[in-house]
Amino acid sequence: MKRIEVEGVRIAFHDHGTGLPVLLLHGFPLSSESFRPQLDALAAKVRLIVPDHRGFGESGPPGAEATEMGRIARDALAVLDALGIHRAVVGGVSMGGYAAMAMLREDAGRVAGLILIDTQAAADDEAGKARRADTAKAVEARGAQALVDAMLSKLVSDACDPAVRAGLEAMIRAQSPQGCVAAVRGMALRPESFDVLARFAGPSLVVVGEKDAITPPAKAREMAKLLQGSKLVEIPRAGHLANLEAPAAFNAAAESFLASLPASLVSG
Ligand code: MLT
Repeated sequence: MKRIEVEGVRIAFHDHGTGLPVLLLHGFPLSSESFRPQLDALAAKVRLIVPDHRGFGESGPPGAEATEMGRIARDALAVLDALGIHRAVVGGVSMGGYAAMAMLREDAGRVAGLILIDTQAAADDEAGKARRADTAKAVEARGAQALVDAMLSKLVSDACDPAVRAGLEAMIRAQSPQGCVAAVRGMALRPESFDVLARFAGPSLVVVGEKDAITPPAKAREMAKLLQGSKLVEIPRAGHLANLEAPAAFNAAAESFLASLPASLVSG
């Protein structure tokens, strides 16, 4: 992986392939490894840039403050700056989708196209914020195991390949409690993003697993309705991490979307 420093924090990222730059933002409580099936297949067609968010994977720990979604977006923009890339197609899974929407709010001119995967435009309601506070406390007490116990069964469907589930469990266990707590607090602070989606004029793809138990298909339909001319793909039998659980179907949808984009999209 390559590395840069952003305001004193190490941000590690994959930069694989050539051609159309596609930035992929991972979900919680995971790392860039959750895009392994895309790194292995899609980097033959496009340039994939996949950071570990601060506090996750090989990136450095966050400070004492919450990792807000705008912070993740600015770190990712700093990665694009370091690579000399002005505009990229930006994709995000779940929390990564929240960060992609935060990027639209930060600087929509950097987003040439959008891929929203198993995510939602809504903010947390009061009950959701209270659940985040409980989750943060549980992680402080018991580490990432608390997230394995609370989330693993919701991240993938019952039909998930046991090897994929085991890999996911190991990935969650490998994350630092400090990074997870900061991100949980950051997710609770995010504003709703219906407005930024309605304003986005570029091409977009919305993907959701049919069995997504965290951000179900109704959330995806809501976003697709707001995005002008977007394409919505529902992946049969897949859960919340459709790109990891059903990589062939996900990659086919992403490849067909990316192949439809003109090369001129990223210039200017
Ligand atoms: C994720 O998959 O990134 C999280 O489940 C998102 C969330 O908790 O809202």
